[in-house]
Amino acid sequence: MSKELNADFWNHRWTTGQTGWDIGYASPALTQYMEQYKNKNAAILIPGCGNAHEAAFLVANGFTNITLLDISSTAVLILEEKFTLSNGVEIPKLGLGTWFISDKDVVQAVKDAVQIGYRHIDTAQAYRNERGVGEGIKSCGVKREELFVTTKLAAEVKSYKKAVSSIDQSLKTMGLDYADMMIIHSPQPWTKFGEAERYFEGNREAWRALEEAYKAGKLRAIGVSNFEKPDLDNILASCSVKPMVNQILAHISNTPKELIKYTQDKGILVEAYSPVAHGELLKNTEVAKIAEKYGVTIPQLGIRYVLQLGLLALPKTANPAHMKNNADVDFIISEADMDVLQNVEQIKDYGNASMMPVYGGKLNLKSMLSMIFRRG
Ligand SMILES: NC(=O)c1ccc[n+]([C@@H]2O[C@H](COP(=O)([O-])OP(=O)(O)OC[C@H]3O[C@@H](n4cnc5c(N)ncnc54)[C@H](OP(=O)(O)O)[C@@H]3O)[C@@H](O)[C@H]2O)c1
Repeated sequence: MSKELNADFWNHRWTTGQTGWDIGYASPALTQYMEQYKNKNAAILIPGCGNAHEAAFLVANGFTNITLLDISSTAVLILEEKFTLSNGVEIPKLGLGTWFISDKDVVQAVKDAVQIGYRHIDTAQAYRNERGVGEGIKSCGVKREELFVTTKLAAEVKSYKKAVSSIDQSLKTMGLDYADMMIIHSPQPWTKFGEAERYFEGNREAWRALEEAYKAGKLRAIGVSNFEKPDLDNILASCSVKPMVNQILAHISNTPKELIKYTQDKGILVEAYSPVAHGELLKNTEVAKIAEKYGVTIPQLGIRYVLQLGLLALPKTANPAHMKNNADVDFIISEADMDVLQNVEQIKDYGNASMMPVYGGKLNLKSMLSMIFRRG
């Protein structure tokens, strides 16, 4: 039963607006839906076991034609949901981001996340915590094959030879026989990010190394990150294995719709990084009001927003309470609110992360040192 409850299912029910066939939730947005639909003769699907009392509550509030769905827990649903990559490999829709979690702290963060139900961890050579991620994976008590680990080939690696040794080094550092996915972190080295030179040849070379490692069974999937349309076209024109994902900056107020569509049309899954805008979304009062309306936190709203766009969500936290909160996203943002959220004034100031190239900043020696200092 829980298999039906994927985003497409909910969105279909929502957007088709079939007469007498709307959806309510037991929590946390039940009150809102009740308010919205109390005048309709609506069938209500309630996720969660033993909700007879909730059904009675709805009847008392004027609902008729109620259907109960018997599924165990709303909070774990998203953790069980997966996308299928173009090569048939399944990838959990929610992953734990680990940028700025130290190599030491990430061990516990991975264990906590797995304990909560996360099965997907996102790291990178550049985060300097691959070793800790590997340790967490090996000591978390869940079988390796049930976990999905992504790492990233450093943005500066733009030759075949360096890419080959760099891929092997990642596996060695993590202490793993294989990674579930490895992606090119950026089409340009960080210090050149946003410049005219797109490093087409270097990216084709790095891609060739990833393809080889994929074919050799060292990587179950391969992909790219921060790739714009010309960067994707460059790889697609010459590859023997198509990229399976493009991991890009996508969050409320910053939704690169054209790139998302272009990528998805090529059969490539889009992963949304910084779904909480690196924490900056928490300061946005307009977004706060909408989150309040749904009875959810801003990070929950941000995560649900990208999932509802059909993207994979990668929120970062080492705090178990935040991990749980971020996985409790079984509510629906209405089409009207999705539009509002898409058009929220774009966040341009990413606070003390503004110097990062992914947020439009420029890296120099000073900012690189400050980044290393922050990472601890
Ligand atoms: N491919 C790339 O170039 C690229 C670039 C950036 C990021 N990424 C990936 O995407 C991941 C996420 O992006 P991000 O690290 O920029 O940040 P993010 O997930 O957008 O935001 C993280 C911030 O939100 C806070 N937060 C998260 N959940 C919360 C909750 N439930 N309640 C309150 N605060 C919450 C965190 O605080 P606490 O830590 O205190 O919980 C942290 O300050 C990264 O870790 C990385 O794996 C990839």
